[in-house]
Amino acid sequence: MPACEVKSADTRGLAGQTVGDTSVCSVNQTQLIYRGYEIADLAANATFEEVAFLLLAGHKPSADELAEFDQALKDNRSVESSILDVIERIAVEPADVHPMSILRTGISMVSHLDPECEDNSADAEYRKSIRLMAKIPTLIGACQAPRDGRSRVEPDASLSHAANLLWMLTGKKPESIATKVMDVSLILYAEHDFNASTFTSRVIASTNSDMHSAVCGGIGALKGNLHGGANEAAMDMLADIMNDTSDSSMTVEEWMQNAFNEKRKLMGFGHRVYKNGDHRAGILREWGLKYCEEVEPDKKVWFDLGDEVQGIMHREKDIHPNVDFPCGMTYFTLGIPVPQYTPIFVASRITGWCAHIMEQHANNRIIRPLAQYAGPDLMSWCDS
Ligand code: SDX
Repeated sequence: MPACEVKSADTRGLAGQTVGDTSVCSVNQTQLIYRGYEIADLAANATFEEVAFLLLAGHKPSADELAEFDQALKDNRSVESSILDVIERIAVEPADVHPMSILRTGISMVSHLDPECEDNSADAEYRKSIRLMAKIPTLIGACQAPRDGRSRVEPDASLSHAANLLWMLTGKKPESIATKVMDVSLILYAEHDFNASTFTSRVIASTNSDMHSAVCGGIGALKGNLHGGANEAAMDMLADIMNDTSDSSMTVEEWMQNAFNEKRKLMGFGHRVYKNGDHRAGILREWGLKYCEEVEPDKKVWFDLGDEVQGIMHREKDIHPNVDFPCGMTYFTLGIPVPQYTPIFVASRITGWCAHIMEQHANNRIIRPLAQYAGPDLMSWCDS
């Protein structure tokens, strides 16, 4: 390429393109901010219920607002047994349906019984956001219980949102440290401006379609391993490395070099926006390690392996882990089945999606970008 010719930026995937504004969140190299509050501040000082209210209502809740919001969540955790029975059946027949697909089906079924499904008014969408946030852990639990060979459990109104999610997912009441780690992970995963799944939800909402349809679209987008599915893929990758290097026939360095030679995408690493590291990754890694040290010291080997992999990626590629990398190790240490990692991401990101859907509906214009035609020149049908 002649020296004078400047390589045009690669804008595939809308890279580097600002395509709208939002008051919900700011994602940049130096900060991650939810409605004016920095992520480390929220992770250290707020609960997921408080952060969810902040995202949905737009301000920090008063004590009364928080109590009312928390009660509304607890009052709406139950799901009709006819829906849960379907979820339980498709969770095991056929055996290999991904829990994200089952959750997408669950949200569709829940929408048919939501009396305000077709009402896109602000008040109705706020109420629908609460119902969706409240019911997702129940849907996740109905999927996991038959896979564990046990009966599903009922939501427990004495438990916080994070604790109830673990209760629904495992059928066991969680230790307080497990609840805290889950609560922090839900805060970290809640919102991230125009990421692929949120932008998908906004595009659907921009046609005047309903919140449940936009959420189903968001689930479809988040499922991919380049996006939310990376937390499962990152754990699977670590398990492969652990397995392949366990008999010392190969070192971690050699495993990584093979991956580089094969030009493999290493899951849990890299980010479209963050080039100097994901503000969330270090926070989640610290909480995962804390849980290890307090409850599962034998599983610290996973964090040691993760640190080695991270060091090689940084040294060889100058690529940093995103939040999905420590999430994989952390959820594994908590004993959560790997295929449920991304559904848990949904249980958190439902708050960001709903905030963006409401923002889109409040000041809407259909999202319809232009395309650069790269097809054949004009031809005559009869002459060709
Ligand atoms: C999430 O957008 C968000 O905000 C998402 C998210 C959120 O909270 O909503 O943060 C959550 O989805 C995090 C990302 C999870 N995905 C993964 O961990 C999958 C692995 N990562 C890569 O596929 C990639 O880094 C992406 C998808 C995250 C970003 O894609 P980009 O912006 O197109 O990648 P890039 O321009 O930064 O990469 C430039 C080059 C690559 O060139 P290509 O092969 O893509 O042409 O850097 C290399 C690669 O050569 N590279 C990697 C790599 N990431 C980048 N090489 C190996 N492994 C990787 N993970």
